[in-house]
Amino acid sequence: MKRGCPYGSHRVIEPAGELPQAAWKIDNTPQIYSNEILIDVTRLNIDAASFAQIKRETQENTERTSQMILDIVRERGKHHNPVTDSGGMLIGTVIEIGEEIAGKIDLACGDRIATLVSLTLTPLVIEKINEIKFTVDQVDIAGKAILFESGVYAKLPPEIPEGVALALLDVAGALPQTARLVQLGDTVLIIGGGGKSGLLCLYEAKRRAGPAGKVIVLARSDTSYKRALETGWADIVIQGDATKPLAVLEAVKEATDGALVDVTINCVNIPGTEMATVLATKERGVIYFFSMATSFTAAALGAEGVGKDVTMLIGNGYTHDHAQISFHALAESAQLRKLFEQLYS
Ligand SMILES: NC(=O)c1ccc[n+]([C@@H]2O[C@H](COP(=O)([O-])OP(=O)(O)OC[C@H]3O[C@@H](n4cnc5c(N)ncnc54)[C@H](OP(=O)(O)O)[C@@H]3O)[C@@H](O)[C@H]2O)c1
Repeated sequence: MKRGCPYGSHRVIEPAGELPQAAWKIDNTPQIYSNEILIDVTRLNIDAASFAQIKRETQENTERTSQMILDIVRERGKHHNPVTDSGGMLIGTVIEIGEEIAGKIDLACGDRIATLVSLTLTPLVIEKINEIKFTVDQVDIAGKAILFESGVYAKLPPEIPEGVALALLDVAGALPQTARLVQLGDTVLIIGGGGKSGLLCLYEAKRRAGPAGKVIVLARSDTSYKRALETGWADIVIQGDATKPLAVLEAVKEATDGALVDVTINCVNIPGTEMATVLATKERGVIYFFSMATSFTAAALGAEGVGKDVTMLIGNGYTHDHAQISFHALAESAQLRKLFEQLYS
């Protein structure tokens, strides 16, 4: 067996010299190098921004959606949506571990795992699409994937339904990052707070801001609005459209007596919400763009254009121990667990 680069550069086909995430095409041959892991894949969790774009394009037609997913993987060797530039993650069973890493990692053949690295860098072969779960952004498949030596993964706890674990781990960075950013007494705005990552941020933001703080959610549809309201974790839930910056500014001014918010967390799955996020945030406040649909230029030039001095953070998908922390939140809050089970089981 040959040894590969720990970051997977040995599988890059084009352009040469790139790392797999930035590459257009990677080699998805399901035969491992001595420092890789082979996974028998059963389900993909397509990134929300990517799946929203695919659904818009195919109008949720099952055949066209399957074809689009198959085409992306056939062309690129990975599920890397060329429009949104985002991927997702997967669950499956470990079926082979390269000889150089076997015994050095806490994995054995037969273990059920979720990969915690993006599908945009994961060599993937889809043999068959079995079911497309449009409401939860998940796709049941038969296929194979490769995890590089540097790839992060989590073993699936048997007590949590796999659909729930997959949904939770897809956005595992959201809750620990919220914990880092929100201080006692803060006013926090969560845009898209009725969605998957939004609910995790909402739960954690309320715990961190405490009784003297204020947590506001902006939700679009009736369903998201009702879901966020019924958690009881938000002090105020606003129903509105984050692509309408001035309307959002007015609503947030009203909710905060004109003060605006200390921390804004953007969890939407569509483009064009940067300026609502910027305008709602106080001078010297903090913005956490968790959304993959965020445009760096729209945020940076937009903030400059309105003379707003805010700290803007990119939502790093990885935080130390994020899987463990997210599983812990589910164990700690029966309400959060019930919510995720209702939505993603
Ligand atoms: N940074 C990372 O590492 C990372 C990892 C995974 C995912 N993500 C990204 O995080 C984002 C959220 O993912 P998710 O899985 O939580 O998605 P999700 O469950 O689909 O939630 C998205 C939310 O955005 C809301 N929304 C959409 N358009 C809106 C608008 N115009 N105004 C206000 N709210 C709006 C949706 O509300 P309605 O249902 O009412 O439309 C929904 O509640 C996506 O962009 C995804 O790509 C980032």
